[in-house]
Amino acid sequence: MTKGNIRNHNKDFEFILENIATELHPFIYDHHKTWNLMSQVRKSNVQQIYNKALEVIAHEIQHHFKQEEDLILTRLKRYVNNQVVGPIAKLIDEHRSIEKKYHEVQKSYHQNPESLEFKKQINLLAYIIMKHIEKEDHYFYPLVSLILSQEEKAEISALFHILR
Ligand SMILES: [Fe+2]
Ligand SMILES: [Fe+2]
Repeated sequence: MTKGNIRNHNKDFEFILENIATELHPFIYDHHKTWNLMSQVRKSNVQQIYNKALEVIAHEIQHHFKQEEDLILTRLKRYVNNQVVGPIAKLIDEHRSIEKKYHEVQKSYHQNPESLEFKKQINLLAYIIMKHIEKEDHYFYPLVSLILSQEEKAEISALFHILR
């Protein structure tokens, strides 16, 4: 199992919200729910939690990742033009790599949901997702909150709810 330093998101949660524009809070609430489920994956060895986690990760990839890319990154591009390196490229890279890992885990689940291999893989995926959330909560969203205009943030907030 991967050992690493993961900050306790629940302890930080109120402070994280204070650092991020209210219009972007729905994304942080998504993080909150996902982080807690991923934390359960890493702490327990319960098949039901693995099933739920796979369902939630698939949903996050389809909705949360897509909304970050379509709503936030398309606007951030107006300020940070370089798409080879930097925050836009890295965020997209991480999303694609989480998606790839998710498909590998899914494959292993279908082969044998009780195998040690599957459990190792889902634990690693949970860890990677928690680190991704940590990075977004502590760096990406606080900075995006400062860079985007009030109007852009209001557009994101309105579209977030329409697209759900
Ligand atoms: Fe993300
Ligand atoms: Fe996110």
